[in-house]
Amino acid sequence: MQTHQYEALIVGGGGAGLMAALYASRGARTAVISKLYPTRSHTGTAQGGIGAALGNLEEDRPEWHAFDTVKGGDYLTDQDAALVLAEGAIEAVIELEHLGLPFDRTPEGRISQRRFGGHTSNFGGKPVRRACHSADRTGHMILQTLYQQCIKNNVTFFDEYHVVDLIRNGDAVVGVVAVNIDSGELHVFHSKAVLFATGGWGRVWEVTSNAHTLTGDGNVITYRRGVPMQDMEFFQFHPTGIYKMGILITEGVRGEGGVLLNDRGERFMEHYAPSIKDLASRDVVSRAIFLELRAGRGIKGQNYVHLDVTPETVNRYLAEAGESRRITGEYIESKLPDILDFCRTYLGVDPVKEPMPIQPTAHYGMGGIPTDLDGRAVIDAQRTPLPGLYAAGECACVSVHGANRLGTNSLTDLIVFGLRSGKHMAQYCQGTDFTPLPSNPAGEIEAELERIRHASGTRKPYELRAEMQKVMMQQVSVFRTAEGMQEAVNTIQRLQDEYRNNLVIDDHGQRFNSDLLEAWELGCLLDIAQVTTASALAREESRGAHSREDFPKRDDEQWMVHTLAYRTADGGVELNHDKPVDLSLAAKDERFKPKERVY
Ligand code: FUM
Repeated sequence: MQTHQYEALIVGGGGAGLMAALYASRGARTAVISKLYPTRSHTGTAQGGIGAALGNLEEDRPEWHAFDTVKGGDYLTDQDAALVLAEGAIEAVIELEHLGLPFDRTPEGRISQRRFGGHTSNFGGKPVRRACHSADRTGHMILQTLYQQCIKNNVTFFDEYHVVDLIRNGDAVVGVVAVNIDSGELHVFHSKAVLFATGGWGRVWEVTSNAHTLTGDGNVITYRRGVPMQDMEFFQFHPTGIYKMGILITEGVRGEGGVLLNDRGERFMEHYAPSIKDLASRDVVSRAIFLELRAGRGIKGQNYVHLDVTPETVNRYLAEAGESRRITGEYIESKLPDILDFCRTYLGVDPVKEPMPIQPTAHYGMGGIPTDLDGRAVIDAQRTPLPGLYAAGECACVSVHGANRLGTNSLTDLIVFGLRSGKHMAQYCQGTDFTPLPSNPAGEIEAELERIRHASGTRKPYELRAEMQKVMMQQVSVFRTAEGMQEAVNTIQRLQDEYRNNLVIDDHGQRFNSDLLEAWELGCLLDIAQVTTASALAREESRGAHSREDFPKRDDEQWMVHTLAYRTADGGVELNHDKPVDLSLAAKDERFKPKERVY
């Protein structure tokens, strides 16, 4: 078995991983290990923009951005993190520009900005242009820019190496084990510090904007090695996925003036969010669409509504709102080229001429590996760091998104906290020696992979996955009840049992065994579904993306706390609710105190 040694290891080649790698590599010998070629990472599908209060088109301030982030998160957001995000965003976006990112420009040559849900001026006043964008390919441009910078900075890349275990020696974190996907061989990576930036886990649900690779690997690898998962009950459904396929239609469409319409042609968001309408936060818009569908107002009685960005419709509403701006087909072609392409290719619908059929799609996990503001994994309610372990991006929970993330803040998160984590890792590595590897560091995971390879049951991974996705979609999505979630708990438990005792795969070979690795990923998805459901069942209130029909009110008395979920020795979930939300901004400024959210 080959062993490699690097001071800093980054697991995941998306935006957070690459930003962390760039900064870590300025002070430590750094490698990125990624199950994908880095520029194929899911950051590349982030469309609409990166939030930063540059104020290029109208007045904007970081404290307004922090306020929107706290309010959007339904007051579960750690407020210290929101301020770091909003202040750090400005510098980080300018740095991206200097690194070569081709942002869209205003006629004066400044970075162009557009509106996005929940982003306002003056503490909840009117929508503000805060999303810096590169057409509707912002994430793609971030990936290309950062990858080139990492290569320039001599970061070593292990592409198509699938990390499957974290190595600990006593309390120390000393590396990871990865499968070389091509050869099927296990490799041991010895390090001083490890950062997970493995992205999300949307594949737990049936309809999702997430790529096939988003199976929560980093969260589960660390969870199985004693690190909790935080706030996993909060999973966001993006309001506008392509009907049935789930492919993301950026909120930038509404930012450019697009509107949601039901079967009667009504702009129904006027009823649910009278002031900000289609640009309310995502949890609010997704619930509104579900309620319209439930009331039979889906298009032709079906399970979708329309998103209309045709110039005729947009200009009518702009005129009604007293705005002087008007749009043309050419403008939409230049601002939303990928969206037009998706709809024309997959649906045969031309959004310049007709509305798009959309439904909410599983999109983003607000929870994850708990971290502090420097990306260090913290393992208890007292926020005690586990030396040498870091996380950034969607797999991490610095708790900046609270109970519901605002659009554009994921890109901001991965740049701001990726940068901070990478910097901290470099310092940590400079002041730390290598801890020796334990004996046979790959032994346990090798045994588990061999168990899966030779399992002789009757259930195929795709069958178990489909059952999991269906029950999670029906019972643990936008609206939830105790009864429905209990059904999900029972189903997931049965599926986990079948996974252990009645699995079979077709490919028993070594090279490029995606059958084996997808089966291993299914084990991760099932663990995530188990933790998500247990956490959601315990939280008897409605907050952000966690909407309980049996507990419809937010309960600040009892539930201004984070959920920490630990794995028990027998594979169960133990929950802890002792970690309070950081309210440091509210302590100084009334406006940050929790209140009812009105949009
Ligand atoms: O709507 C979008 O473009 C998605 C952005 C995000 O999730 O932040």
